[in-house]
Amino acid sequence: MIGERLNRAINDQIKNELESYYIYLSMAAYFHSKSLDGMGHWMRCQAHEEMIHAMKFFQHVIDRGGQVVLQDVRQLKTEWSSPLEAFQDAFEHEQFITGKINELTTIAREEKDYASEPMLAWFSDEQIEEEASTGKITDELEMVGEDKSGLLMIDRELGQRAYPPGSPFGPSAVGGEDA
Ligand code: FEO
Repeated sequence: MIGERLNRAINDQIKNELESYYIYLSMAAYFHSKSLDGMGHWMRCQAHEEMIHAMKFFQHVIDRGGQVVLQDVRQLKTEWSSPLEAFQDAFEHEQFITGKINELTTIAREEKDYASEPMLAWFSDEQIEEEASTGKITDELEMVGEDKSGLLMIDRELGQRAYPPGSPFGPSAVGGEDA
C-alpha cells in the first residue's frame, strides 16, 4: 500500500502532467493559428503523451490502494511571440518536470517505497528524451532565426511525428482532415 506522503506527492504530479497536457495543447492551438501545422501536430502528439503520463501516475495510485485527488489546473499562456519562444517554454517546462520526478524519487527513497521505483525510473528515462527533443528543436529554431524557409522546413519535419496508437488527438480521429 502506498504511504500518505508519496500519495500526496504523486497527486501533485498528476496535476503537473495534466498541466503539461494543457500547455502543449495550448501551444498546438497557437501553432495552428499561425498555419504552422507541423508544429501544431507535434504539440498534439506531445499533449497525448502527457495525458498518458498523468494516467500512469493515476493508475499507480489506484493499484497501490491510495486515492487520487485531482487539483485545479492554472490559467495558461495562450500566445507566444514566436515559435522559438514557445519551444523555449516547452524546454524549460520539461526541465521543471524533470526536477519534480527527481523530488518524487527522493520522497520514494526516504519512505522506502521500493514498489514505485520501476515506475519512477521509467519517468526519469522519459525525461531524458523529453528534454532532448524540446532542446533540439529550440536549438534548430535559434539556428534558422528569421529565415522563413528554414522555419517551414522545421515545420514539415515536425509534422512527421507519429501519434501514439489509438490517439484521439489527430484531426481525422474527430472527423477532420489530417495535414
Ligand atoms: Fe510528462 Fe513532458 O513530461
